[in-house]
Amino acid sequence: MTQPFFPLDRRGFLKSSGLLATVPWMRQDARAAVSKDDPDALKVGLVGCGGRGSGAALQAMNAEDGTVLLTAMADLFPDRIERSHGLLKEALGEHAGRLQVDPEQRFSGFDAYEQLLATDVDVVLLTTPPVFRPMMLAAAIAAGKHVFCEKPMAVDAPGVRSVLATAEAAKAAKLSLVAGFCWRYNVRHRALYQRVQDGALGDLRAIYSTYLASPNRSVARGEGWTEMEWNLRNWYQVLWASGDHVLEQACHSLDKMAWATGDTPPLRVMAVGGRQAKLGPNLGNIYDHFTATFDYPDDVKGFHVCRQMDGCATDNSDWVMGAKGNAYVNGWADRHEISGENAWAYEGPGNDMYQQEHDELFASIRSAKPINDGTWMATSTLLGVMTRMSAYTGDVITWEQALASEEKLAPDVFEFGPNPLRPVAIPGQTKFF
Ligand SMILES: NC(=O)c1ccc[n+]([C@@H]2O[C@H](COP(=O)([O-])OP(=O)(O)OC[C@H]3O[C@@H](n4cnc5c(N)ncnc54)[C@H](O)[C@@H]3O)[C@@H](O)[C@H]2O)c1
Repeated sequence: MTQPFFPLDRRGFLKSSGLLATVPWMRQDARAAVSKDDPDALKVGLVGCGGRGSGAALQAMNAEDGTVLLTAMADLFPDRIERSHGLLKEALGEHAGRLQVDPEQRFSGFDAYEQLLATDVDVVLLTTPPVFRPMMLAAAIAAGKHVFCEKPMAVDAPGVRSVLATAEAAKAAKLSLVAGFCWRYNVRHRALYQRVQDGALGDLRAIYSTYLASPNRSVARGEGWTEMEWNLRNWYQVLWASGDHVLEQACHSLDKMAWATGDTPPLRVMAVGGRQAKLGPNLGNIYDHFTATFDYPDDVKGFHVCRQMDGCATDNSDWVMGAKGNAYVNGWADRHEISGENAWAYEGPGNDMYQQEHDELFASIRSAKPINDGTWMATSTLLGVMTRMSAYTGDVITWEQALASEEKLAPDVFEFGPNPLRPVAIPGQTKFF
């Protein structure tokens, strides 16, 4: 099974990414000379040097034979850059020549991404907390860079609208924009969802998905940290930075729901959620469970349930039910099956979907056939945003309402200083706007 996370401790990173320095894992010949001045070299900049960003950087450097170099790194915090750089060097082993990030190409602070975009990188990997994605994506495309963009793409509707506009700008500029909704790059999933779209299940009746997991990491406040620093070091628990776990994590399941419907927008959602087991001091202001019912045209229903609690059952499944049969997907257990009139089970080889994202991104750049995942990655993000809106307010939320919402989660100014969290939402009292 492919690992979704790349923990940023040395052992965890090397182990979970399957990249032990002693193993000749890279495709390239380590003896091949690699130089920034090689006109064929594609230069990559990493914005957000955490666990996922470091993994994505390795996958980018492994996407092609001898021509992809990491030449710039940006993060809010210099310690994260140095940590990531050290781990990458170790993971690359004899291929460390691909890591060419001179000290003056390492940028920190809230404007680090702008400094990185001013360098001569060709490709940017955007892997910060999602609240920054719309702003950074817009700037990257305006600067003429190809982009790999982690999910989710925004935390609120103004962010989604910005990403939709940027997707159009990327198209016009013929720049590649690849989404980190990694299951769409998984060959087993692709085979199954293609069959669903080709009608193997007949008319769709319902979709049901689960994302039942342990809590994401939480971080205690360090000495001397301002509230803003703590918010961002502990971002998984902080609403304005993560958008809540129904968006940050369960968006994978909601994206697969969108995939099964051919990216048809639902008419509306009615969601329920709460915060029951988040009892410690570092657990921010998000919920720990949600359930949602989506209405689609033609009486198709979508059901979703997600939870982040310790000591409970875990599961990540998707069922697509139709008039002629049902599809069952379990990405964690590698099960991809269809029952009924067109019974089928996936039997071919699998792939590393995280590597596939970068293989396809770099191939698209070389062949001047840009990939643009921009529209569907934004609308899949809105599914998580509208579910949160409905659960937080207690209102039924239509697609149009969600897309037009003016609610902006981020503070107006990004600077280190006070930044108190808003209270945990209470359905019936928290207002939609
Ligand atoms: N596709 C997947 O399976 C998958 C798996 C894990 C994470 N993710 C996504 O990847 C993103 C990053 O997650 P992570 O686990 O790597 O988090 P992380 O906390 O390990 O890394 C995020 C990094 O971004 C930095 N950062 C914060 N604000 C910044 C700013 N304004 N400018 C520059 N850098 C900034 C942080 O300091 C940190 O180093 C999230 O959107 C997450 O949802 C996707």
